[in-house]
Amino acid sequence: MQDLNKLWKIFNERFTDTGLVKGAFSAPGRVNLIGEHTDYNEGFVLPIAIGKKIIMLGQLRNDRLVQVFDPGYKVKTKFSLDNLTPLKKDTWANYLMGVMDEIKKAGYPLQGANLIFISNIPKGAGLSSSAALEVVTALTMAKLNLLEIKPVEVARLCQRAENNFVGVACGIMDQYVSCLGQKNYTLFIDCKSNNYELIPFKDPNYQVLICNSKIQRGLANSEYNRRREECKIATEFFKHKLNREIRALRDITIDEYKKYQAQLPEIIARRARHVISENYRVQTGVQALREGNFSAFGKLMVESHRSLKNDYEVSCPELDFLVNLALKQEGILGARMTGAGFGGCTVNLIEKNYIDAFKKSIKNEYKKITGINPDIYLTRPAKGAKVIELR
Ligand code: GLA
Repeated sequence: MQDLNKLWKIFNERFTDTGLVKGAFSAPGRVNLIGEHTDYNEGFVLPIAIGKKIIMLGQLRNDRLVQVFDPGYKVKTKFSLDNLTPLKKDTWANYLMGVMDEIKKAGYPLQGANLIFISNIPKGAGLSSSAALEVVTALTMAKLNLLEIKPVEVARLCQRAENNFVGVACGIMDQYVSCLGQKNYTLFIDCKSNNYELIPFKDPNYQVLICNSKIQRGLANSEYNRRREECKIATEFFKHKLNREIRALRDITIDEYKKYQAQLPEIIARRARHVISENYRVQTGVQALREGNFSAFGKLMVESHRSLKNDYEVSCPELDFLVNLALKQEGILGARMTGAGFGGCTVNLIEKNYIDAFKKSIKNEYKKITGINPDIYLTRPAKGAKVIELR
């Protein structure tokens, strides 16, 4: 990542100093350790913020104009805060505009700003570069405008931006962990109450490795929305069967599922089984981490992958291959696809002494079969969005 001084130099070359408040901010991507496709079913998730992030520099303006420059991709745009409508070209700018739109709708006053940002989160890899862009934009605009917006509200506002403005019906996980992640902790989120708890992940003997299959998540949006619909159908079914308030699949126990599963259409039954069993796995996994039982946690990751592959059907051959390959390596405790699926990354839990051998073997084998050089990133749980102090 370019150093901050260089970035300020680019900023100063591009924009005239307005003499108003300026600052530097960052927001990380995330990897989910367990709890996939459960957030929009009001269930449980356990992501961590990762070391890869977006840095944004900004200065307030005296008018309603927002000017943005992305030196990485050499693209720029400008728009007025009084005319926030989704763009058909330059769609990357919709993440920023959507956030500003939601800040306004929440009743906060905004002035314009000059902004630049750079990212080292790979795009389309399922590591939530979009959530990071939303969160860093929200933090930048809030701080420049001297607004006090709590991290949980920032996360919700960013999710609404993605749902309403960008048009992706994502859940709350990505924005939440990008805002609230902490160094050496996983974030256990209850997506029904939106309460969260930090679960220690401190033992240096166990490490998280992310393998990027480099398969772009092409089908992700349409299939994602279809899965959401299928979950709604299952929820409606249980609402009619059970005599109590059911809002989402989160409210169904495994025993209730077993009792009624035969009456559900086959595909819907499998989708529901994934979500209901995955919620159970997250809660069991949290308990395992609390006890420092990493090998039990790893086994749950493997079960999660099988369920995503067979029941939820959101994996792809390359992800399955990466997982199977990982599970053959020494020192590996667990491996699974992570994120929405259909490409992107796997997440692996490994003993630290075996990292180099793992990397070498996965790189060779994956290249041999697919012709693709995978990227492998080592990450510890990192801190969420923050202000970068100016020197
Ligand atoms: C995407 C969404 C998240 C979540 C995951 C699947 O990353 O943005 O809200 O639904 O897929 O677990």
